[in-house]
Amino acid sequence: PNATLDITPLAGRIGAEVRGLRLSGALAPDTFAALKAALLRHKVLFLRGQQHLDDASHQAFARLFGELVAHPTVPSKDGTQILELDSQHGGRANSWHTDVTFEAAYPQVAVLRGVVIPPSGGDTVWANTAAAYEELPPALKALADSLWALHGNDYDYAATRVEPDDAGRQKYREVFTRRLIRTEHPLVRVHPETGERTLVLGHFVQRFVGHNTQDSQALFTIFQNHITRLENTVRWRWSAGDVAIWDNRATQHYAINDYGSAHRVVRRVTVHGDVPVSVTG
Ligand code: SIN
Repeated sequence: PNATLDITPLAGRIGAEVRGLRLSGALAPDTFAALKAALLRHKVLFLRGQQHLDDASHQAFARLFGELVAHPTVPSKDGTQILELDSQHGGRANSWHTDVTFEAAYPQVAVLRGVVIPPSGGDTVWANTAAAYEELPPALKALADSLWALHGNDYDYAATRVEPDDAGRQKYREVFTRRLIRTEHPLVRVHPETGERTLVLGHFVQRFVGHNTQDSQALFTIFQNHITRLENTVRWRWSAGDVAIWDNRATQHYAINDYGSAHRVVRRVTVHGDVPVSVTG
């Protein structure tokens, strides 16, 4: 179905820009099918010039992928299922992660809209977790296939932040962890739509099941470093009105915090996912 879309890959292993498409909840079924196919192939898609989207049409578009799911602890923007990340209120996701992996059925797709973008800086980087698995030598693939990790939302969201005072850090942390949520996932999941094997890691991982903290840290470093190798990444320079759509089952991302006191606001909608299936089913 790709014939109907203008798709330009942006890096060798992940990311493509889609041109000439106006996103809405009313996309023709064959256009949406082509977009979905492109997403499964490229893992993250970028569209410039989507300023016509407001919160309602942003959600209506995302709903084409499935039922929307609000963030489990952070209150949504009023009357919506939108997570607003505002740099002036702590929203700087500058640490590698897949969204909400502390939930059993974590989101399958996310749609992020640039609302206020700094004059320079504030780019986001995505990494391909299928390519990362694929490049592992056979012995590490076998090890990865056998591991399970504990994910939790008591990840220290404030760890990478420079806060003027402890009270600010504490308040921020509490919003994200007001309810403790933990789950175990296989390190390798079989993608329900592509059949690819992808690595499930990121900053919510607390330890590997059956391994102590020290070994868990060492194992985490081995596999996480494969994910974030620059060869597996693509970096997006935002303008207001840009939209990024990613397959949250096959990617991690990192929002670069290099814009100081400049203002940055992005809004994210996530689509309900399914519980990861391991290589043994
Ligand atoms: C996120 O982690 O979902 C937000 C990424 C960003 O702020 O660019």
